[in-house]
Amino acid sequence: MADKITGQGLAYSDVLIRPRLSDIRSRRSEQLNPSTLVARGLPTIKLPVLSANMDTVTEHRMAITMALYGGLGIIHRFMTPEEQANEVKKVKDLVRMIEDDPPLVRADTTIGEVISLQQKRNRGYVIVFSGTKFYGSFVGIATPRDFLTAPLTSPISKVMTPKNKIITVTNDTPTQKAVGVMRANRIQKIPVIDQKGRLVGVYTLKDFSYQTQYPQASFDRNGRLMVGAAIGVQSQDIDRVHMLIDAGVDMLVLDIAHGGLIYTSEMLNRLKNKEKIKTPVIAGNIATAEGARYIYDNGADGVKVGVGPGYVCETRNVAGIGIPQITAIMEVAGVMAKKRHPIPIIADGGIREPGDLPKAIVAGANSVMVGSLFAGTRESPGEQMLENGMLKKLVRGMASASAFQKRKSIGGTTTNGEHYTPEGRAIATPYKGSVTKMLYDFDGGLRSSMSYVGAHTIAEMQKRGQFIIVTGAGATENKRDLK
Ligand code: XMP
Repeated sequence: MADKITGQGLAYSDVLIRPRLSDIRSRRSEQLNPSTLVARGLPTIKLPVLSANMDTVTEHRMAITMALYGGLGIIHRFMTPEEQANEVKKVKDLVRMIEDDPPLVRADTTIGEVISLQQKRNRGYVIVFSGTKFYGSFVGIATPRDFLTAPLTSPISKVMTPKNKIITVTNDTPTQKAVGVMRANRIQKIPVIDQKGRLVGVYTLKDFSYQTQYPQASFDRNGRLMVGAAIGVQSQDIDRVHMLIDAGVDMLVLDIAHGGLIYTSEMLNRLKNKEKIKTPVIAGNIATAEGARYIYDNGADGVKVGVGPGYVCETRNVAGIGIPQITAIMEVAGVMAKKRHPIPIIADGGIREPGDLPKAIVAGANSVMVGSLFAGTRESPGEQMLENGMLKKLVRGMASASAFQKRKSIGGTTTNGEHYTPEGRAIATPYKGSVTKMLYDFDGGLRSSMSYVGAHTIAEMQKRGQFIIVTGAGATENKRDLK
């Protein structure tokens, strides 16, 4: 019977981080670098926070904001594969170093047709070419200013700026210099051509302004915002995977409640060995050393940790299963510490305040995933509603009864739901305005914590950070009433 009880579990509120001697002079100091790896093979991000793949948390709007502020959003999968790929595209299309796939139209295209193309792919201009196929040479450029006042039936060639009047730069021109040319000539777009005069791309002032305005943004290697997407483990998910990859997704997240199920190994094997995809794949959720070894051995590029800590999660109540989150992260980190090439750990669920982020890192995580806390924000999907005079938004568990109905409606489950026992709930959460304020607080809190610990990097925070377990009185010491 002795092995029936396997230990004690610590949650975020059970611990505090010990202050240590430190040489860090300020939170904004250059000495501090909270950059982290979310998945093997992905560029690092500057804020170790991911928004969860829940349908009340992450679609393109949240994902764009997360990436602009240094984090990463994971688009949920409770929509058709086409819709999900489209959400990914919206993130990937927002910013780029150079537009290497500009919207192209033939010279005889009518303005009406160009306007409808703009509705699908609005880059603020079209490149015009002659003949029936584009081989790199172009005859002009047109922007909405040119075509919005002309008759819809006119060909675009009538209103475009012809090539001999277009200022271009060659493909060896550094971005900064191209920006200087745009500014000096008061233009917002500049075609980039190769030695033979063929178009290789277009620089836009708007793209560049994103890069200067958001220096902390999570850019991929081509200067586009990074985004992840969730997938399931059924065979029909393979089509979804390919659509997401074609849309430019940076990372896939295998979304199952119990990552220790055989499906994880089957899906990872299929993706890595049969489909031979290069996109990093995160797998989970697990909460034990045994689970961590399983995910690692099956070739995942990152592991998501968390069984039951979620705010709208009812697994612990319904199934009696779970491991408090600090203990779960520490167990998984213990496994990774023994590997020569460990994979990054994402601590998923249970984050209620900024101070939980540094606690997760000290326990051994490389980043955290946040769901409910971000659900009531301007950037989360869904409308605000008025409840007892308060503005609120819906947050629901992805295993809740209402989410199940949605999943069923898009053919995302094979069970008919007659005896479906939900392991999640749906509730209204107060509307909190923009998520950006919270992201600043996560960043500020983490930097402060790193300076208390004397840790310059996330790796040092994991190494130097130590916990103290707090008693009930210790936990509320700073909240005692004044007498
Ligand atoms: P927070 O606490 O940030 O947690 O809201 C987000 C994570 O909770 C998980 N999740 C669920 N877990 N039943 C569960 O057992 C559910 O219905 C459910 N919905 C979300 C998920 O891992 C998410 O990232």
